[in-house]
Amino acid sequence: MTNLFLDALAGKTGSRPPFWFMRQAGRYLPEYRELRAKADGFLDLCYTPERAARVTLQPIERFRPDAAILFSDILVVPQAIGQTVGFVEGRGPVLDPIKSAAQLAALDPGRTLEHLAPVFETVRLVRSELPDDVALIGFAGAPWTVATYMIEGGSTRDFNTVKSWAISNREAFETMLNLLVESTTAYLVAQVESGAQALQLFDTWANAVPASEFDNWVSEPTARIVSAVKAKAPDIPIIGFARGIGPRLPDYIRKTGIDAVGLDSSISPAEAARDIQPICPVQGNLDPAYLLSGGDEIERAAREVLKELSDGPFVFNLAHGINKETPPSHVERLAEIIRTWESRA
Ligand code: CP3
Repeated sequence: MTNLFLDALAGKTGSRPPFWFMRQAGRYLPEYRELRAKADGFLDLCYTPERAARVTLQPIERFRPDAAILFSDILVVPQAIGQTVGFVEGRGPVLDPIKSAAQLAALDPGRTLEHLAPVFETVRLVRSELPDDVALIGFAGAPWTVATYMIEGGSTRDFNTVKSWAISNREAFETMLNLLVESTTAYLVAQVESGAQALQLFDTWANAVPASEFDNWVSEPTARIVSAVKAKAPDIPIIGFARGIGPRLPDYIRKTGIDAVGLDSSISPAEAARDIQPICPVQGNLDPAYLLSGGDEIERAAREVLKELSDGPFVFNLAHGINKETPPSHVERLAEIIRTWESRA
């Protein structure tokens, strides 16, 4: 069975561009809110395979994208290795922040697979229920982005705590990145063994890293995960999504060994076609604000992306996740625009 999404990641251009949307499952869908209300919090939803599988499949039933993404979160990894992680209504993630070498020493990547067993069960359930022509994407956070939450204790605007900690405790920060490389590799390989057919590494906060630390904090840890996953699962395509890194994209692609790159909307589709697509397949990059606004602007902006990028290896996606106020009808309209795109010669 051919899958347009996996074909695009392999460098092929098919009859139309494949698509899926970051955060395609979630609070903008009434059927998500209904299941979420029955769960005992967000993490309970992530760790209950039957419910997490249902949530993963909800957007597939509505929009028929070419890929489903496992419903979970990047912060299950710090929890798996022993950090206290919670999600507070209206506030987002709250972690007991790592401040000392002693707290770091208490973390144990050896616990990863046991703790995350319910997630692997979700992957198996989803794969068994998905249509053959819809691929299943597994994912994890990249070490830098996960470390920001572990050290800040939650979301941050300025990253001052994690950056100054990383600079003044270089050895400890390296130890932390190493722990995350080890745990994340085990997590991703187990997702593949359970049925994931492609992987995405989310480095949402790569934009906050100083240029002089970019290799140490972003490219090298990511490269180590990519090569360790490929040693066990050589045929699995890996998408790197390092948000906001603009001019460093070509270097990031070459140094990490990723198979395809996710693009945010700071690069124009024309620039991406000229500078990035010749290096590897690209995924992106409609700003989710167009989807939120609606109307004819969705079509205008989507067509610009399609016109510039669909002649080469390309997966249509957003530049970041769907905003939770987005009307599902706008998403349906976008799916229809992509499905019926026919300008290919
Ligand atoms: O559909 C999908 O894309 C798959 C599921 C998914 C979620 N989180 C579900 C989720 C994925 C791939 C993620 C990744 C994730 N989680 C990232 C990287 C991508 C990005 O969006 O930047 C990050 C930074 C996180 C950490 C995280 N998780 C935060 C900061 C929050 C709070 C956000 C908020 O607005 O409240 C979450 C919670 C979360 N993860 C929700 C969902 C659907 C909302 C939880 C709820 O139902 O209350």
